[in-house]
Amino acid sequence: MDQQRPIWGTRTGFILAAVGSAIGLGNIWRFPAVAYENGGGAFFLPYLFALLTAGIPLLIMEFTMGHKYRGSSPLTFARMNKKAEWLGWWQVAISFVVATFYSVIIGWALSYTIFSFNLSWGEDPKTFLLTDYLQVGSAGSFGGFVPQVLISLVVVWVIVLGVLIAGVKKGIEVATKVMIPLLVVMFLIVVVRALTLEGAAEGLNTFFKPDWSKLADGKVWIAAYGQIFFSLSIGFAIMLTYSSYLPKKSDITNNAFITGFSNSAFELLAGFGVFSALGFMAAQQGVGVEEVVDSGVILAFAVFPQIINEFPFANEWFGVLFFGSLVLAGLTSLISIVETFVAGVQEKFNVSRTKSVLVGGGLASLVSLLYATRGGLNFLDVIDYFINNFGVALAGLVEVILVAWVFKQLDSLKSHADAVSDIKLGAWWKICLSIITPIVLGYMMFDNFRQNLTGPYGDYPQSFINKYGWTAATGAILIGFAFMYMKPWKKEMLKTPASISTTKKEVS
Ligand code: ALA
Repeated sequence: MDQQRPIWGTRTGFILAAVGSAIGLGNIWRFPAVAYENGGGAFFLPYLFALLTAGIPLLIMEFTMGHKYRGSSPLTFARMNKKAEWLGWWQVAISFVVATFYSVIIGWALSYTIFSFNLSWGEDPKTFLLTDYLQVGSAGSFGGFVPQVLISLVVVWVIVLGVLIAGVKKGIEVATKVMIPLLVVMFLIVVVRALTLEGAAEGLNTFFKPDWSKLADGKVWIAAYGQIFFSLSIGFAIMLTYSSYLPKKSDITNNAFITGFSNSAFELLAGFGVFSALGFMAAQQGVGVEEVVDSGVILAFAVFPQIINEFPFANEWFGVLFFGSLVLAGLTSLISIVETFVAGVQEKFNVSRTKSVLVGGGLASLVSLLYATRGGLNFLDVIDYFINNFGVALAGLVEVILVAWVFKQLDSLKSHADAVSDIKLGAWWKICLSIITPIVLGYMMFDNFRQNLTGPYGDYPQSFINKYGWTAATGAILIGFAFMYMKPWKKEMLKTPASISTTKKEVS
């Protein structure tokens, strides 16, 4: 099996794929609003803290584990220690859930790229979004399919599954080599144009104005960790899987720094672009920037079309570039998210790649139909929140605790990374992973559970939250255990690939 394992064609190919996974919808429509809501300029302190003490160290750890054990997430954890396999499946299950709603948002962006050509959203983009396009119904009811959402969703899945069937080198690597440079060029045009609009300075001022009092609020730190994990694609099997396709001679630590900093640079760029545009809109309407800012779905699909409407010239092209960027950023991330379960299923059940893409990806695409219904937006909002907070971030925390404390792997991972990397890992790396991250993230999780167990999220009825939010989060863990016991690995599969293992001791 190992001889047949695919390998990235070039180092640039791997970096572009990893950066493509990291840069996604989280950077463009999530980061600016999260930063603004959590203290503006003051948010950069917890953000940087989370990036440097958890984000980059965990990215280095995941790259090292993938490179050392050369398996999908479940196989990598099983090779580290048989008892840890469930964590790999849990992460894969989280990715599965994320893929189901992530694909739908890319579908919306695809529709909006086309709508941009003639500004089809009209004078009132918010009503257009909620009533005409999504046809939103009440929370918990399905209310039938929305045809225009369904069509774009099918297009997204056809592209993603097509790329994945083509393979790691001929599919993922080729696709990201085209999409990422194109995304960077398109998004730079958007940001530069936004920065030169009237009112941009006021928008940036609002974005960066620090509200230091927010730093005393645990929720702000929670938001920073959540953002870093989701944005860097760590804690949900992605970077483990991608790095398992690295050739033996690969610089791990350097690649992790390049990926981490490129992602944050893009995130910051998105913040500049979005807030300049919001400043422009506020200036046009003669109101304060805080009155026009909104989050997530509404920001991208209602506020942005409004901004595009008010543009002095070439409105359509600004729309095409903005929504086109969302599509490209989203596709390169979705490809990586789906690859986690394609690789996991392929290895565990010893089936061909095509079969695994069709079964794994096919099943995810079927589940994603849930969000193409009139009730879709409500399902998406709740499931996104719960799978991020009690999926991605929780699995990241469990991962560091198991690797650092239960299976005591940090020393052997450090020697593996140091053996192949230019930059050697210092004591900071171990301190961050074994002490700082478990304490801070552990507190964050505790606080998060407390808040969510004492009151429902948003304005939704508790029964709706239990049925979808908590079920998605706990279901992912249960699936993790179920898959672990489903079919035992053949003994030889669990051996650490000898040629790149630095010590034999850790194989059990
Ligand atoms: N890392 C991806 C994003 O930020 C999942 O959207």
